[in-house]
Amino acid sequence: MNKSIILGIESSCDDTSAAIIKGNSILSNIAASQKIHLEYGGVVPELASRAHQQNIIPVVHQALTKANIQQNEIQAIGFTRGPGLLGSLLVGTSFAKSLAMSLDVPLIEVNHLQAHILAHFIEDANPTPPKFPFLCLTVSGGHTLIVLVKDYFDMEIIGKTIDDAAGEAFDKIGKVFELDYPAGPIIDRLAKEGNENAFEFSKPKLQGYDYSFSGVKTSVLYFIQKEIKKNPNFITENINNLCASVQKNIIDILLNKLKKAAEDYKISEIAISGGVSANSQLRESLKKLCLQKKWNYYIPKFEYTTDNAAMIAMVAKLKFDKKEFTDIRTTATAKYNL
Ligand code: KG4
Ligand code: ZN
Repeated sequence: MNKSIILGIESSCDDTSAAIIKGNSILSNIAASQKIHLEYGGVVPELASRAHQQNIIPVVHQALTKANIQQNEIQAIGFTRGPGLLGSLLVGTSFAKSLAMSLDVPLIEVNHLQAHILAHFIEDANPTPPKFPFLCLTVSGGHTLIVLVKDYFDMEIIGKTIDDAAGEAFDKIGKVFELDYPAGPIIDRLAKEGNENAFEFSKPKLQGYDYSFSGVKTSVLYFIQKEIKKNPNFITENINNLCASVQKNIIDILLNKLKKAAEDYKISEIAISGGVSANSQLRESLKKLCLQKKWNYYIPKFEYTTDNAAMIAMVAKLKFDKKEFTDIRTTATAKYNL
């Protein structure tokens, strides 16, 4: 049987990305991230939408060129329909619809969160894909979820954040530390040179599997304000230790609940996904926990963690096999449940 060739398009936030998948194997995965938001300390929706419009054609073109695929070889087009910023989603959605019409190929809508999770099934994401049922800690700038994945398209959220997402916590605390946006990768890098036990910050006392990160953020803010009064250079003099301590705090919170869920649900297949799963210490700590508990762990290849179109193409491929196509009159949606 010939392997299907599908174009995936992602534009839910501030990365414009296009990828070509053949079977389960990624031939290209191109992303243009938008630097314009740096000076504002966060994503400005209107600017993101405009940048997607500038980027989308060159990014799709590059994805085709790198994959050495002609337009007429594309058998379907997958696109992120939601959740995300509406103005950003509209760019990818409109482009995907127009191209699907002009090439006369099926259009396939993809849920961005499902895509973060199903990225594990891309051929080179893991040495072997997770086995159902598995638990997936999905941690990004907008979401923090513990998902029970029973099958490709049968997922149940068993835990979620009641306020900030984990990535948002990294980014907001990074702002307190006067770091650039997004601060997550910067904290990751600086933490490597720091002592994770240097400072202690608060931990939420929530029952069950839900998360909360706003208290952590506030405790860091108050601590910094107090220390700066005594020493105006406190942040710069302690930045590595601050990053290491905050990172440890967030990871402990994330993994404690994940561990509890795995024990209670008696599931020994454990995965992580989403932008925060790029965090090197989270990856290390998950590995350590799983080795200790004799659980199988699935940590996706780095390029499939933060927003990317490869994961969108992967979901589109799974739907293509089931002939689950989307009507051309579809519209983007900012909210989209799993
Ligand atoms: O999945 P993603 O690219 O976009 C959303 O769907 O939100 O996740 C972006 C988030 C940002 O908050 C960013 O700071 C965080 O992922 N992030 C990290 C790292 N790389 C990205 N957080 C901690 N450590 C990292 N290495
Ligand atoms: Zn994402």
